Amino acid sequence: MNYFGPKIFIDLQNLVNNYQKLVEKINGLSVMATVKANAYGHGAVEISKALEKEGVRYLAVFTIDEAIELRDSGIKSDIFIYSKMDPNRLKEVEENDLTINVSSFDDLNTLNDFHGKIKAHLKFDTGMTRLGIPFIKAEDFLKKAINTSSLYIEGLYSHFATADEGELSYAKNQLDQFNEILKIADHLEIKPKFIHCSNSGAILNLPESRFNMVRAGMLLYGAFPSDEVPHDISIEPVMSMTAPVVEVRDVKKGTLISYGGAYKTTTDTRIAVVQAGFADGVPRPWYVEGYVLFKGKKLKITGRICMDQLMIDVGKNNISYGDEVLIFGSNKNGSIDINDIAKSIDSTSYVLVTSIGIRPKRIY
Ligand SMILES: Cc1ncc(COP(=O)(O)O)c(C=O)c1O
Repeated sequence: MNYFGPKIFIDLQNLVNNYQKLVEKINGLSVMATVKANAYGHGAVEISKALEKEGVRYLAVFTIDEAIELRDSGIKSDIFIYSKMDPNRLKEVEENDLTINVSSFDDLNTLNDFHGKIKAHLKFDTGMTRLGIPFIKAEDFLKKAINTSSLYIEGLYSHFATADEGELSYAKNQLDQFNEILKIADHLEIKPKFIHCSNSGAILNLPESRFNMVRAGMLLYGAFPSDEVPHDISIEPVMSMTAPVVEVRDVKKGTLISYGGAYKTTTDTRIAVVQAGFADGVPRPWYVEGYVLFKGKKLKITGRICMDQLMIDVGKNNISYGDEVLIFGSNKNGSIDINDIAKSIDSTSYVLVTSIGIRPKRIY
């Protein structure tokens, strides 16, 4: 089939290089690669296969369905499920050899009634105020967990709320609490195989939080979680997006372009229509400062990005039907850092990569 439309290029070699750089940075500790939400829009199966080949120690998804998709595609690695334990699907967890998050007394009660063996990492809330047992209940929880016969406690973990920020006192406080919980676990003779706390921000900002495994997401995909972490690992973006020009026309000075007429040409010029819009993942607010790249030249996005198309001012550039422009990432046209787009529209690279629609063809 001849595909014509926006394309997402996934550079698996960059992924592998990023993974290797990360392992080097953390001196060979284990990596739990976060491949939830279709591997942040990159394609969970392809990304997981590439990382499995590299020997990644764990994969992490959010839902049990995401985990089963990976198993069905032949992934053999350990898979951790971040979401709240689903009391109705423990059999599937066991059958598919998955590892779950256990984060409440209710979870333990359910497990008490379960006949079988469930591998789990126990989650403690040290300041994210999401899932997890708060510090003051940690001891009771751990005591109850030891006496839950269907439960194999493979890991203990927590999650940072602010580890990608420059001001780290809150994150350090979270880490102190988690260390106290680990002491309690130790007194109870719980010897977890894995202890983990670090997301990408903490990997860079708080090396003392790495324990024996890190939960990396964004770094593997080649973007920094923020500007406030040391950029001292040479990662490369894995995802790039291009889209074809479908029409070019001459317009007079003063022509209004796109919905709301928010853009008015300041000279006689040429406007091209590009086949990619916000339904494909081009962030709509980007039109204010946004541009695409063609043969190294920045071409301004003119007017509001539509659902399926956007317009650019091509001036005197020789560009015609079928020519592909770079929306973000890098190729022979140059490069546009997704973090620069995110900054311009007060968003994050996390939001942008996970907003890629279902239409763009992913090319590996
Ligand atoms: C529990 C948990 N751990 C780790 C990560 C990975 O975070 P990052 O992509 O910043 O490395 C996430 C991502 O949101 C998460 O929810």
